[in-house]
Amino acid sequence: MHKKTILHDRPFRTTVVMTTVVCALCSIAQAQVSPQLIDGKPITEVNSCITNGCHGSLVNQRVMHQPVADSKCLECHEYAVAEEHLFVLSKPGNQQCADCHTLTHLDRVIHKPVADGECLSCHDPHGSDHTTMLRKDPAKGLCLDCHMDDYSEHEYIHGPVAVGACVVCHEPHSSSFKGLLTDRPNRLCLSCHEELEPTLMEKRHLHKPMEDGCISCHNPHASDSEFQLNASVPNLCLECHGWFEELFETAEVVHAPAKDQGGCTECHNPHFSVLPKLQKKLQPDLCMTCHDKELVTKDGRTLTNMKAFLENNPNHHGPIREGACTLCHHPHASEDQNLLLQAYPPEFYAPFGVERYELCFSCHQPDLVMDEAGSGLTQFRQGDLNLHWLHVNKEKGRTCRACHEVHASQRPAHIRESVPFGSSGWMLDINFEARTNGGSCAPACHKSKVYLRSVPEVTEELQP
Ligand code: HEC
Ligand code: HEC
Ligand code: HEC
Ligand code: HEC
Ligand code: HEC
Ligand code: HEC
Ligand code: HEC
Ligand code: HEC
Ligand code: HEC
Ligand code: HEC
Ligand code: HEC
Ligand code: HEC
Ligand code: HEC
Repeated sequence: MHKKTILHDRPFRTTVVMTTVVCALCSIAQAQVSPQLIDGKPITEVNSCITNGCHGSLVNQRVMHQPVADSKCLECHEYAVAEEHLFVLSKPGNQQCADCHTLTHLDRVIHKPVADGECLSCHDPHGSDHTTMLRKDPAKGLCLDCHMDDYSEHEYIHGPVAVGACVVCHEPHSSSFKGLLTDRPNRLCLSCHEELEPTLMEKRHLHKPMEDGCISCHNPHASDSEFQLNASVPNLCLECHGWFEELFETAEVVHAPAKDQGGCTECHNPHFSVLPKLQKKLQPDLCMTCHDKELVTKDGRTLTNMKAFLENNPNHHGPIREGACTLCHHPHASEDQNLLLQAYPPEFYAPFGVERYELCFSCHQPDLVMDEAGSGLTQFRQGDLNLHWLHVNKEKGRTCRACHEVHASQRPAHIRESVPFGSSGWMLDINFEARTNGGSCAPACHKSKVYLRSVPEVTEELQP
């Protein structure tokens, strides 16, 4: 029966200057009775505004503004033309608030609409369904009227932002923190993401930018990259670790995951780690997340399934026993086909030079192959004759890989089961046997040979 007038349906506006208010129903009521009386009472008795059913809806709200609940309508409204029941605001709406409220707690950073006194852009002057008579649920859209456009167009929107709960992170009026934040940025994030509070052990390897704040990598609101990252990995990482770009351009071989989308974080935790260099797992497990199967390189080579290989060959080389693949391999890129850190000839035969074996000699004594006299240097000798010297140290020297398997073996001293022979890639068995006083081999290509450390005789050179 009480049809709302157009005025009542008008959407709230942020600033209201001198609104003229007419109550259609009351005007009719007035016309029927007397211009001076409503329900027999003088019009100055404003209780009637809500008791006669005209503005009942104003006070019928979950959260009421005290002066409205007290029917002190005339604190803010006054008659313009009493006979026509025409009201005006006693002063512009926003200015009324300051009559009774002073926001004493205003801090260093003040929200612009607050500084401009636009209280009504967020608060309803009478009452609403939300705390402090907010026009909308502060956890669902209050701020979005002015701010949403920026975030909604992004693919990944932060949980609390997506539901419009801006006020969990921002003070609506003012704050002592930059950006109106409710707390220091990191503490703010950790209040919900407790799992990212590093433990004491993890603090030892805290990624430096964590000290500057989560927002050096994450957008607190939204972004087009997963996890609201400022850019996707690896680009995000390269913004600070710029030298990688040059490495990728100049290096002969780039480890595929280093360049791949999301690759850096296959191996590194971006936040912190109990392990040095932010490694996600101990080696070799770190490497085995991918090398637990055969992998194919860009140039079509099939790589050994390292996990299976190490399982099937129980005699592991020292550094592998210590779980340190990166003592020999570069995890990112290298000049070497096998991502080796240092020189190591890839062939079966190679002219000798210490510099060509830097990798092995970074841990083993070069004397091993430098001295003709082998006593005290190597077990691989015939009497005093150093058989390492004999095989390796010459123009057509055999490289270590002719006899040794670098990762692991079935046999002692990491002697291989078989060697690749010729360009055909045939594998020839070596059949190495260790003996108390030496060893023997029976390669498929020549008759078996024996070396004895206590017999000062030179055997024939092993010819494949
Ligand atoms: C604290 C100040 C204040 C008090 C008290 C107040 N009003 Fe208002 N009222 C306003 C302002 C400001 C507007 C302007 C519209 C807006 O921005 O919401 C307004 C608008 C109105 C309107 C027209 C717009 C609408 O919401 O439909 C009516 C009708 C109205 N008031 C009735 C009343 C009545 C009846 C009372 C007493 C029960 C009352 N007001 C008490 C400040 C007040
Ligand atoms: C005539 C005095 C008066 C005017 C004018 C006035 N208020 Fe109030 N307001 C009060 C009183 C009284 C209370 C209740 C006491 C309290 O909670 O501090 C109150 C409470 C509030 C509250 C807190 C409500 C809650 O649930 O805690 C808000 C928000 C508020 N007013 C906003 C405004 C805004 C915005 C304006 C301007 C449109 C305004 N007030 C104008 C007197 C006034
Ligand atoms: C951008 C929106 C926004 C504007 C503009 C704004 N407020 Fe608020 N105000 C809020 C929100 C949100 C809360 C509730 C805070 C809470 O619950 O922690 C609030 C709470 C209040 C309260 C009660 C709690 C307190 O902090 O005292 C008062 C009073 C108040 N506002 C008055 C005002 C006045 C006066 C103005 C204009 C000078 C104003 N507000 C402008 C959003 C706003
Ligand atoms: C009436 C429109 C309006 C509403 C509603 C509004 N804001 Fe704002 N807000 C602004 C304006 C205008 C600025 C200043 C923008 C600028 O300086 O470029 C601003 C600035 C901000 C800033 C940046 C402050 C700084 O110093 O860097 C934050 C944060 C902010 N608003 C959060 C909020 C939150 C949270 C809400 C909801 C409680 C909200 N705003 C509601 C208009 C609004
Ligand atoms: C999870 C916490 C969080 C939530 C939720 C959040 N913000 Fe922010 N906001 C921040 C942080 C952190 C900053 C950066 C502050 C700084 O400058 O250091 C920021 C900055 C801002 C700024 C300043 C300009 C800018 O973009 O850097 C505005 C405006 C803003 N927020 C508005 C909003 C609005 C509107 C919402 C709700 C839709 C919202 N924020 C929700 C944390 C949050
Ligand atoms: C009020 C609680 C709250 C605060 C404060 C908060 N977040 Fe969140 N955050 C969430 C929720 C809820 C999700 C959504 C979780 C989900 O989707 O599994 C989320 C998701 C995220 C995600 C994506 C996680 C994923 O698995 O997709 C990131 C990254 C994130 N927040 C970073 C931050 C940063 C940085 C800050 C500080 C600026 C922050 N959060 C502050 C509640 C919060
Ligand atoms: C150096 C950049 C960087 C910093 C600083 C950073 N993050 Fe992250 N964050 C990332 C990356 C990259 C991912 C994606 C990880 C992945 O792909 O596995 C991520 C993922 C997340 C996730 C979702 C997955 C998970 O690990 O739970 C949350 C939540 C998160 N970050 C919150 C934070 C918080 C909170 C802070 C500050 C305390 C922070 N981040 C600081 C880069 C960063
Ligand atoms: C905002 C800049 C920034 C971003 C983005 C960034 N880093 Fe860092 N990172 C640093 C700084 C600063 C250091 C410490 C100085 C140094 O060693 O170069 C560091 C160190 C590291 C370290 C060595 C840690 C140690 O214990 O020595 C690793 C590993 C690392 N970052 C990986 C990453 C990865 C992976 C990403 C991408 C997910 C990334 N970083 C993104 C700035 C950044
Ligand atoms: C296959 C695993 C893997 C990938 C992929 C990877 N890293 Fe690493 N990274 C490591 C390991 C392992 C180390 C530690 C090497 C060592 O010191 O033994 C390391 C070391 C680092 C260091 C410290 C360098 C130094 O010399 O101290 C930085 C910085 C780094 N990585 C950044 C990155 C970035 C950025 C990406 C992506 C572009 C990336 N990593 C991709 C495994 C990886
Ligand atoms: C995220 C998966 C992944 C992880 C983790 C990983 N790799 Fe790889 N690796 C590959 C792929 C794929 C290839 C083959 C493609 C390429 O790089 O040419 C490869 C190739 C290699 C190669 C041969 C490169 C060549 O071109 O001959 C070596 C050596 C290697 N990885 C060592 C390691 C080591 C050591 C680790 C641990 C620090 C490791 N990888 C961790 C995926 C991975
Ligand atoms: C002592 C040095 C050394 C250590 C430690 C080492 N590697 Fe290697 N790796 C090599 C050399 C040398 C090659 C080149 C092939 C060869 O000579 O057998 C190679 C080749 C590879 C290849 C390519 C294999 C193929 O089929 O072409 C992979 C994959 C690999 N290593 C992974 C690992 C992983 C994973 C670890 C740690 C468990 C590791 N390496 C530890 C020296 C090492
Ligand atoms: C990072 C250091 C390191 C590098 C590089 C290294 N080794 Fe080793 N090597 C060791 C350690 C440690 C042992 C174990 C010594 C022990 O058990 O007493 C070992 C043992 C050996 C053994 C077996 C000794 C035995 O009696 O069982 C052979 C053979 C061997 N290395 C060959 C090589 C070759 C060939 C290279 C170059 C491709 C190489 N190593 C590179 C550290 C290294
Ligand atoms: C012609 C085969 C052959 C070649 C080539 C060879 N080795 Fe050996 N190496 C052996 C044999 C056999 C043993 C085991 C001696 C024993 O314990 O009886 C051995 C033992 C070793 C040992 C264990 C310590 C010792 O000397 O007794 C190391 C270390 C070693 N070799 C490193 C190398 C390195 C480095 C290269 C390449 C520069 C290399 N070997 C080349 C056959 C070879």
